[in-house]
Amino acid sequence: MLIGVPRETAAGEKRVATVPEVVQKLAKLGFGVAVESGAGDAANFADDDYRAAGAEVLPGAADVWARADIVFKVRPPTLEEVGLMREGATLIGFVWPAQNPELMQALQAKRATVLAIDCLPRQLSRAQKMDALTSMAGISGYRAVIEAANAFGRFLNGQVTAAGKIPPAKVFIAGAGVAGLAAIGTAANLGAIVRANDTRAEVADQVVSLGGEFVKVDYEEEGSGGGGYAKVMSEGFQAAQRAMYAQQAREVDIIITTALIPGKPAPKLITAEMVQSMKPGSVIVDLAAEQGGNCELTVPGEAVVRHGVTIIGYTDLLSRLAKQSSTLYSNNLLRLAEELCKAKDGNIVVNFEDDAIRGLTVVRDGELTWPAPPPKLPAAPAKPKAAAPIAAPKGHGHGASEPMSVKSLAIVFGVGALLFLLVGLYAPASFLSHFTVFVLACFVGYMVVWNVTPSLHTPLMSVTNAISSIIAIGALVQVAPPLADGAADRPDGLILFLAFFALALTAVNMFGGFAVTRRMLAMFRK
Ligand code: NAI
Repeated sequence: MLIGVPRETAAGEKRVATVPEVVQKLAKLGFGVAVESGAGDAANFADDDYRAAGAEVLPGAADVWARADIVFKVRPPTLEEVGLMREGATLIGFVWPAQNPELMQALQAKRATVLAIDCLPRQLSRAQKMDALTSMAGISGYRAVIEAANAFGRFLNGQVTAAGKIPPAKVFIAGAGVAGLAAIGTAANLGAIVRANDTRAEVADQVVSLGGEFVKVDYEEEGSGGGGYAKVMSEGFQAAQRAMYAQQAREVDIIITTALIPGKPAPKLITAEMVQSMKPGSVIVDLAAEQGGNCELTVPGEAVVRHGVTIIGYTDLLSRLAKQSSTLYSNNLLRLAEELCKAKDGNIVVNFEDDAIRGLTVVRDGELTWPAPPPKLPAAPAKPKAAAPIAAPKGHGHGASEPMSVKSLAIVFGVGALLFLLVGLYAPASFLSHFTVFVLACFVGYMVVWNVTPSLHTPLMSVTNAISSIIAIGALVQVAPPLADGAADRPDGLILFLAFFALALTAVNMFGGFAVTRRMLAMFRK
């Protein structure tokens, strides 16, 4: 089958749906690729690069649309473009069916098959490689920080120079989804102090792991609306959130907003008064500009200055990194092509048994198949039980980790006592004293090792460290000189050798452990 890649026609759109590197990989799947002349120009991919990769370069859009069995697009096609499309062809790209009813009708009239990349069931882990929403959001988050840094009149990192001390910039990120997390990582890497807030409390750890601080709203409400997305919050929550955002606005230098709720206008989080309260020269980047904006004063598509604050509402951040976004997007489409063409014979099979493909397919052979039923997810792991009360009623524990019942404890002790009695009756007296010391040592060793609380290390490392310490103590006792003459005999040569050997091994384990830990920590330090 022939994959056609027309030039994007939306104003200001610089991305292209397939890059030369991916053309070669599509050819390996058995597809032919035809690219409209100039399709990759704005993203720095020349016609010759496509030719060198094995694509055919066609002079006009009409040729591509008319010949292609499958069309790869970035933006939803216009009605004119659908007019050029071959009857029964397949379209793959962003479609946004809910927002584009006319387009959906036109595509059905063409008896097309349409895979809308925006309808991918993102919660399927198998679908992640095809998730263009995520790859594009990551780029927007990165670029938002770069735009903010460009408009901000200072360094983002703190510096002490001969000319004076510069404090690090404070950045507040509203919404810690894919774009927000990318912005947190980028701003933290540039040396800024980063804070972030989201209505979904589960992202707090992710914020911290990227170098940010999670700022909580002082109001208890679950913010998850299902599928990893947010929901509209209650009035009470919104009021508490406004108070917290107002305080952040007064303190920080840069605000980047990314908050979205699927199918709803973007929540208004930054009011005109908050903008007014910011320090002059501050910057707001509103990534939700296209969906109405998170800031009341955002002008979509433009950068404006209000109350001395630059408010950036660009809607073309992806085109500002066109080469990068085209490359990631075309890789997402390549992964989808691999799923559609498992036989690698250049033909696609739209398999409705596959949840990812089913979710993506919004029209099949002219028949509307959107919205898809929710995908069958693997059974969620059972919620962890509430922590057991300390004085749990006895006799109910059947799990391995639960305390023994009184009955089994009595049996264990009974058997132990009987064994001890037998040893006492028949073994020589010297053996009994050694045996008692041995049993007590096992007990103390067990308690000392298993009661170590893992804090810096993993539980396994903590336990092995505790074992090493016990071995070291035992070996030291053996090699130490007797306390007083005759108080203890020097151990014989073999024991001394074994003790020394044990000490050497534990030393390797301990100091080796320190060295490995240092190296691991160094990997996370800049
Ligand atoms: P999005 O673009 O719809 O929203 C951006 C962020 O804004 C979300 O984190 C949302 O909670 C937050 N938000 C909404 N209203 C807010 C408010 N009033 N105040 C503060 N924050 C608000 O979301 P995106 O980035 O597309 O992804 C959402 C989540 O889905 C992410 O956590 C992401 O990791 C997850 N996801 C999961 C996948 C999977 O399960 N395989 C795949 C892709 C994304």
